[in-house]
Amino acid sequence: MCGIFAYLNYQVPRTRKEILETLVKGLQRLEYRGYDSAGVAVDGPKNNKDNNNNSITLIKKRGKVKNLDEELYKKDSDLDLDAVLGTHFGLAHTRWATHGEPSAVNCHPHRSDKDNEFVVVHNGIITNYKELKKYLNSKGYEFESETDTEVIPKLTKYVYDNRERDTISFSTLVERVIQQLEGAFALVFKSRHFPGEAVATRRGSPLLIGVRSESELSAEHIPIQYNSALFKEGVQEKNIHNRPDAVGGGKAVEYYFASDASAIIEHTNKVLYMEDDDVAIVTNGKLSIHRLNRQAGEDPVRLIKTLQMELQQIMKGNFEAFMQKEIFEQPESVVNTMRGRIVFDTDTVVLGGLKDHLKEIKRCRRLIMIGCGTSFHAAVATRQILEELTELPVMVELASDFLDRNTPVFRDDVCFFISQSGETADTLMALRYCKERGALTVGITNTVGSSISRDTDCGVHINAGPEIGVASTKAYTSQFVSLVMFGLMVSEDRVSLQKRRGEIIQGLKDLPELIKKVLALDNKIKAIADELYEQRSLLVMGRGFNYATCLEGALKIKEITYMHSEGILAGELKHGPLALIDKHMPVIMIIMRDACYQKCQNALEQVTARSGRPIILCCQDDVEITKNAYKTIELPHTVDCLQGILSVIPLQLMSFHLAVLRGYDVDCPRNLAKSVTVE
Ligand code: F6R
Repeated sequence: MCGIFAYLNYQVPRTRKEILETLVKGLQRLEYRGYDSAGVAVDGPKNNKDNNNNSITLIKKRGKVKNLDEELYKKDSDLDLDAVLGTHFGLAHTRWATHGEPSAVNCHPHRSDKDNEFVVVHNGIITNYKELKKYLNSKGYEFESETDTEVIPKLTKYVYDNRERDTISFSTLVERVIQQLEGAFALVFKSRHFPGEAVATRRGSPLLIGVRSESELSAEHIPIQYNSALFKEGVQEKNIHNRPDAVGGGKAVEYYFASDASAIIEHTNKVLYMEDDDVAIVTNGKLSIHRLNRQAGEDPVRLIKTLQMELQQIMKGNFEAFMQKEIFEQPESVVNTMRGRIVFDTDTVVLGGLKDHLKEIKRCRRLIMIGCGTSFHAAVATRQILEELTELPVMVELASDFLDRNTPVFRDDVCFFISQSGETADTLMALRYCKERGALTVGITNTVGSSISRDTDCGVHINAGPEIGVASTKAYTSQFVSLVMFGLMVSEDRVSLQKRRGEIIQGLKDLPELIKKVLALDNKIKAIADELYEQRSLLVMGRGFNYATCLEGALKIKEITYMHSEGILAGELKHGPLALIDKHMPVIMIIMRDACYQKCQNALEQVTARSGRPIILCCQDDVEITKNAYKTIELPHTVDCLQGILSVIPLQLMSFHLAVLRGYDVDCPRNLAKSVTVE
């Protein structure tokens, strides 16, 4: 939700044009996080009349990053694009509106005053902004936007203008400002008073820093400009605070600040994940970290990690959209989820991140699965098999509702937090709530270094690879597989369950091939979409192991096609939804050969008796079903509890084709953003 990107080149000469290109490229990588407006801040006077030293120019534009990109090179701009800047710090931001409509003035960077003394980019929400605004108004500060963010640069200037002594460091200034802020934020600051310096901080919203040293650019020699131990994956964390040889060491170096790794990976794979209340400062090319309100003797330790991500993973390749690419990646992504965890010959499953807590998990009173949107659906999809394999009660909870209800949680509960991004605010709040009550917390995330993966006691990384399309697809199937693997691990010593476990493990082994077979139905699904795309509404019905597919399919359809779509539990049909059925209402029904087969057939009868014309997802060669269907999509059969992985894929593809046919931007649906870091 909103993307921050900032780039500091220290003693690495770059033309202003190159800097702008780097900033824009960073924003393009983050655009899936928000895309209603974008802006940059760079050094330099906007026009010839501006004689100020250290001027900062802001360029902001409503709409997608490409609009901003065009704006940067407009002929009437006086910015000297060819000027070479040895040291420079530039900010960039792509917005997903929370306070104030999408517009250039509400877009970031926000500024302290007309002279741009302090400029800031922000992700998150400042909850006490009204109080701060009122106070600053009373001190004569005028606001130009409707955003919560604008209080931050204004407050920074206020603190600066009212400093006790002539000198105050940029980081002290920022520390004083953030002490007054409530809510969630990731912030990067730039100032005319501190040229070439950067300050960044976070609380509740992600922020990481990529480091590329000048010397690393040359392959022939590897001179050490900083403590090289810091750059080794897996070494003991080193204290980089106040070290004379802190990162950068004052030699040529480049820093990239971003809300996620996908904007950094093309520049460097060395990154530092900031923690809440860290304040990162770059002065004279040196990066150091302060802790806000640090106690005497407390020194932060931060490890510079090596990102495992490949640039290619975040490129679209030959696909029309990231979502499409990610749907087609599922034969590999599920393998990556299982890799090194299942030994197929011996039917053993070991999830490294959970094994030390297994005893505690087995002794617990119940499992509570918490998530939002698609991640919640992954919990719904696996609830039944988890109940069967763990023999424990399993609650599934939408994070926001769980919090609204102040749900009782106990020390002997095990709470799972399922989140692709690992940053979803509601899920994160639910995690804090459960931690306070002493429950064991387990993260199921796709993002290494995310808040949920760091703040939980233990967890599983689903290894689906970066998911860029706003509509979640491969993360869902990998979450599904991870949760099933969890059930298999817990039930390893239950003699009565061995046959069932064996079947499921064999099903998991065959899964990649079966997914490929489902993907091969793409043309058929496209042909059905050709018939449906002008409809206003689409119902998706099923039950048992496939109920979650209905919810997830309907969510995909509504979020990217803007059609009304509802996932309906077939058992509920006669309790209300049947009233919607007539010959005009498109209905997709999921009828697989499992324990609910007969009951689903009853629902089918009820639909056809009302002249409904169902499109049925069923098992291959199910003549009984196909004879009653208006159209069928026949899927390969697998073990009942894994069938939902196969049945969701046609609906992912269907939503994709419907959205394309309706002329929408599949990867950037209106009003949505990938990672929802606001409550
Ligand atoms: C739907 C979708 C959202 C997310 C939800 C939770 O396609 O992507 O419903 O699933 O916002 O996000 P994570 O999983 O990042 O916590």
